[in-house]
Amino acid sequence: MDAQGIDKRGSGPPGATTPFRKHLEMDYLLKVVALVVTVSAIAIHLLSRARKCWGPANLPPGSLGLPVIGQTFSVFRAARANSGNEWIHDWIKRYGPVSKASVLCRPTVFLTGPAANKFMFFTSGLRMGTPRSFQRIFGEKSIVDMHGQDHRRIRGALMEFLKPDMLRRYTGRIDAKVRRHLEEHWQGHTTITVLPLMRGLTFDITSSLLFGLETGATRDAFTRDFGRMVEGVFAIPINLPFTTFSRSLQAGRRARRLLEVITSDKKAKLGQGKASPNSDLINRLLSMTDDHGEQLLTNEEILDNVMFALVASHETTSILMTCMVSHLANDPATLAAMVQEHEEIARNKVEGEALTWEDLSKMKFTWQVAQETLRINPPVFGTSSTALEDIEFDGYHIPKGWQVIWTAIATHMDPSIFHEPAKFDPSRFQSQSSVTPPCSFVPFGGGPRICPGMEFAKMETLVMMHHLVRHFRWNLCCKGKTFMRVSFPSPLEGLPIELEHINPGDRPGFAK
Ligand code: HEM
Repeated sequence: MDAQGIDKRGSGPPGATTPFRKHLEMDYLLKVVALVVTVSAIAIHLLSRARKCWGPANLPPGSLGLPVIGQTFSVFRAARANSGNEWIHDWIKRYGPVSKASVLCRPTVFLTGPAANKFMFFTSGLRMGTPRSFQRIFGEKSIVDMHGQDHRRIRGALMEFLKPDMLRRYTGRIDAKVRRHLEEHWQGHTTITVLPLMRGLTFDITSSLLFGLETGATRDAFTRDFGRMVEGVFAIPINLPFTTFSRSLQAGRRARRLLEVITSDKKAKLGQGKASPNSDLINRLLSMTDDHGEQLLTNEEILDNVMFALVASHETTSILMTCMVSHLANDPATLAAMVQEHEEIARNKVEGEALTWEDLSKMKFTWQVAQETLRINPPVFGTSSTALEDIEFDGYHIPKGWQVIWTAIATHMDPSIFHEPAKFDPSRFQSQSSVTPPCSFVPFGGGPRICPGMEFAKMETLVMMHHLVRHFRWNLCCKGKTFMRVSFPSPLEGLPIELEHINPGDRPGFAK
């Protein structure tokens, strides 16, 4: 300070830096920083509030995992390690009945429980459909890729063939096929592997009733091509020479050419009155006309839907019958009750007489055993749909374009719905009203897309079980555990069993 009392510390030529000036600049800088931080904090807060109001803030709990890949690898790893059911069980335990994940490179919501199943079956904002790779192999016009009026038209046409009044005509034909199958592949063998044999049986029944294609060279070629087509569904969809997918596409083209020849031949025969409209599904569909007298389904729709019916029916029914064999091996009391039911039916028939639709209606206990098997081992894991618009379930937001999957097993294993769910107990189905609430037992799905082949599958299963439990006893050669492939569970190693042929007529009081 000088003599006039002026502090000169901050004076000096302009631009000169003194400690005081430095202090002022620092102060100013701090204020600016504080202002920027405060404004940013307010902006972030406001933006996040806006996101909550307008954006997909309330997504279900879960994890989308690594970008793009998500949980795809862990799902496939679980499938290969026989633990698909455990994977979904653990996921639900961790994140609850509504959860998000990323499967097959798509953001996905898993829904479980009766209310969720109902939501999946009846919500119009969800659209079912097969992946593009499936369509390239099996065709684009199958019922699962149809919606609204087209879906109703195709479903109505399929139901004309699959309704009980029509199916009853085929009981005798199925009975003959089952007897021949058992004579050729079971009788005289001490060990067999059940799943491949059941697949052979259901393929024989289905291709006969759908296409009118009986055993022979053409059927063998078609069977080989069909197997290759199915392989492509689970392969990486790259169409390059020697890839599984490309082989599958080629097999699909061959199978389609064969079906085209079969269909035009059938059309000609129907036109000449040389074939019955009801002898198989193709004939039935060719014979149906609309109000203007035109064929109700186009030729392409007929081919794609007959092919889809084969896919939908073949593996599912063979898994059901194989899993029944597995459960019965571990449950002598249930097997004994079934034998009694079938012996009573056989007692009222002469030797070799075919089963009738009326006989099947008496097999109530056997169907309960089948239902309990379907509960514990649902052949279809679930189905997936795409959200057509932003939708909400149970307070959670499901964004437009996301995949939504329901799974039967998660509901079937819920102890609040099925007491001691792991226990095999067919008496749960003694009365249909005992299975509550609605949409708790869903092996065949539900709503407007509920499986139209349920009665067909029931008919095949009851006929096979009738002859099986009357003529054979078996022991499992492996633990019989089921494992989950991507969409179908399969018993371990195809379920090898040791087999004993018995003659019911040799036991007192039993019909031959
Ligand atoms: C045990 C045997 C079977 C099981 C467990 C089964 C299960 C299913 C399931 C879960 C669905 C999806 C339903 C939904 O989205 O709500 C379905 C659909 C379908 N099933 Fe089956 N199925 C079986 C046998 C059959 C048979 C024997 C046929 C034909 C002969 C068949 C034909 C179809 C068709 C055409 C659809 C599509 C229906 C539509 O989209 O409207 N299924 N099945």
